[in-house]
Amino acid sequence: MGSSSGQPPAYPLLAYPALDSTNDEVRRQAALGGEDGLVITADTQSAGRGRSGRFWQSPEGNLHLSMLMRPVCSPERATELPFVVALAVAEAVAGLVPVARAVRCKWPNDVLIDDRKVAGVLIESEMRPEGGVDWIAVGIGVNVAMAPGDDEVIFPATCLSAAGGRDDGVASVRDAVVDRLYFWRRRWEEGGFAPIRRAWLGVAWRLGAPLAVRMGDDRIEGIFSDLDVRGALILQSADGLRVIPAGDVLPQIDGER
Ligand code: BTN
Repeated sequence: MGSSSGQPPAYPLLAYPALDSTNDEVRRQAALGGEDGLVITADTQSAGRGRSGRFWQSPEGNLHLSMLMRPVCSPERATELPFVVALAVAEAVAGLVPVARAVRCKWPNDVLIDDRKVAGVLIESEMRPEGGVDWIAVGIGVNVAMAPGDDEVIFPATCLSAAGGRDDGVASVRDAVVDRLYFWRRRWEEGGFAPIRRAWLGVAWRLGAPLAVRMGDDRIEGIFSDLDVRGALILQSADGLRVIPAGDVLPQIDGER
């Protein structure tokens, strides 16, 4: 798989110079009958979005990619997909930066290099009127050439070039991400969540260490002990075990820095 050689990529690709959001284009392509596995990229996005409705800066030189997926699992297992995707992105990133760099997955689906965020994942979907999932947009943003400043984001960011990444251009990052996405998706379909959970825990940021999580207006601190079988974060807090299904991991616990 790959197009950095000048060959067309070995996967269906719609590459746009500019879009509102590649996830929005997935919705439009899905309505037109777009097939499972279609990859959509945009050099820039005017309305790139991140988790919890946050803005995602989308300058030229970074990767903005969405994959259209048709139902991959029962709706009860939808919480597993973010980990499949994060693992794929982390593996792609690790292959592009010097081995001395620590590439880690931050719960639930961010990718960090040396404690700074290099990539984020936004998964959106729509149901069929008669029930069941119609389509899933797996949106991935990788800071390749540029990263937002520390005062612009809730978690400090970095980019591949700042981390000494190979400078082969955005298309080669895209090919690497898609390649790993195909690989981990197949592994998930064939082996279920267990191998994904194991591999994700193997590269998890701060596993066994103190972690602070924001859940709505609440802030919870504790030792990051495990991931449950649905992907919830398990924290050993002063009040006992807390199982956190959704939230934002913060850069520091109280008293740090
Ligand atoms: C996050 O970390 O908050 C998720 C960021 C996801 C950004 C990507 S860029 C491609 C796709 N299109 C979007 O509008 N968002 C995702």
